[in-house]
Amino acid sequence: MSILVTGGLGYIGSHTVVELINNNFDVIIVDDLSNSEKFILDNIEEITGKRPIFYPFDLRRKELLTQVFDAHNIEGCINFAASKAVGESMTEPLKYYENNLFSLINVLQEFKERNISNFIFSSSCTVYGQADEMPIDENTPLKEAESSYGKTKQMGEDILKDFSRAYQKKVSLLRYFNPIGAHPTALLGELPAGIPNNLVPYVTQTAAGIREKLSIWGDDYPTEDGTAVRDYIYVVDLAKAHVAALKKLLNSENETVLDIYNLGTGKGSSVLEVVKAFELANNVPVPYQICPRREGDITVAYANADKAEKELGWKSETSLEESLKTTWEWQKYLNDRNN
Ligand code: UFG
Repeated sequence: MSILVTGGLGYIGSHTVVELINNNFDVIIVDDLSNSEKFILDNIEEITGKRPIFYPFDLRRKELLTQVFDAHNIEGCINFAASKAVGESMTEPLKYYENNLFSLINVLQEFKERNISNFIFSSSCTVYGQADEMPIDENTPLKEAESSYGKTKQMGEDILKDFSRAYQKKVSLLRYFNPIGAHPTALLGELPAGIPNNLVPYVTQTAAGIREKLSIWGDDYPTEDGTAVRDYIYVVDLAKAHVAALKKLLNSENETVLDIYNLGTGKGSSVLEVVKAFELANNVPVPYQICPRREGDITVAYANADKAEKELGWKSETSLEESLKTTWEWQKYLNDRNN
């Protein structure tokens, strides 16, 4: 019995593959390498001693996907494959709707036709928009997402709710807050293509001298130090939540399951706090300048992750400082690779 991991060479996907293998699952990866690199497969093997089966293709190619399902006894899927750049999704919305939704539907059709259950979907706290109250729990009302990317996550959730109900399937929707950090071996981490959009990769590249200065987008938010607040969750902790969610689906005696979990630390940190924590953890300076707010940014988002703790026995374990240390080790590994 195997678990299909789409986007399994990507940032969160690769860390999750390692945790699945550590828990004795056989893993099959489909990844089109559009935002990932082949050496990650070698590194997964180096960490775990096992090389997952890997198919390099775009999930919109249904005929190739059908062959994968023909060739393996697939018992469940964790679906990471998606385009994820918020800014790009505003100028290229069709790319996002097509890529993120067609690839999802193709996998679900195989599930339906072959009577397979157990589907885990990478969702995002972006489905809540700027919530009226903190912390955000799973009953917090969803607001219209700001970006087309965010809308694909909301639509993906809707598709899966209908899928679970109509075909009696087990589904888990995992709403991530802000994933950061790298594997403790420094063999896996985030590989931003081009100039990073996200805070931590930008901080890391600035510390490494690849970028001159971090731009802090706004210091006039109604927060303690004026910079925006997010819930930064360590990627290995996040990966472990996927295994817990999968085991819960596999062990459930109910035919139909629709689980929804917020995955965060429960603690908000401001942009300035992240910068300071990085400098302190790694003993390197991060030059920065204060700039105007970035369009579309919300003021504050942090999770109430009690439901995941209660039902999955999972909680975030790694501090912000520890996570930021692993990020720096990963950057050093990348520097060595590139030299
Ligand atoms: N920030 C900066 N400078 C940068 C990059 C980011 O100041 O160079 C700030 C942002 O303005 C924001 C915070 O750092 O206040 C975090 O920004 P990220 O881009 O790292 O993360 P976001 O919270 O904006 O985005 C994340 C995910 C998205 C998801 C979104 C939902 O990356 O996939 O949460 O809120 F859609």
